[in-house]
Amino acid sequence: MTSTPEIAIFASGCFWGTEHIFVKHFPLPRASSRRVSVCSGETQHAEAVRIEFDPKIVSYAELVEFFYRTHDPTTVNQQGGDVGTQYRSAIFTTTPEQAETAKRVTKEVQAKHFTPNGTKIVTAIDAAGPWWDAEAYHQLYLFNNPNGYQCSTHRLHW
Ligand SMILES: *[C@@H]1O[C@H](CO)[C@@H](O)[C@H](O)[C@H]1NC(C)=O
Repeated sequence: MTSTPEIAIFASGCFWGTEHIFVKHFPLPRASSRRVSVCSGETQHAEAVRIEFDPKIVSYAELVEFFYRTHDPTTVNQQGGDVGTQYRSAIFTTTPEQAETAKRVTKEVQAKHFTPNGTKIVTAIDAAGPWWDAEAYHQLYLFNNPNGYQCSTHRLHW
């Protein structure tokens, strides 16, 4: 029996790379879909990836931890050489429970991985506003264009 899918939305810079690393490394065996999109929080839009997942198979906390593991959450409005609010690090939550979990995991990841080297997570955690699917050619872009642009921070950091 499967449960109702939940939606997770993560922004970690150029969405080609965010999507690529989630699809390539994250064990989402039966997650039904991942789409790159543009999502807005309370402020401006950001490039984001929207993941539909079954919470019985993968927990939201695991997704949040993986999100932190695969980009640099310590720079404001910047990922590597990409600068601008559209590249900011953000978690857009779709339920109050997700907001709680996102805050808890952020504290844990801060203590475990960032406090030791004196850096600080600046990721915004906001309720998701409206989002728009990006044009079709952006979907799975780096799988279809293996030599396409990859942001330098999109790798496994631990
Ligand atoms: C601090 O640690 C994080 C997590 O391992 C790593 O991604 C980051 O590059 C480190 N920063 C510095 C300045 O060493």
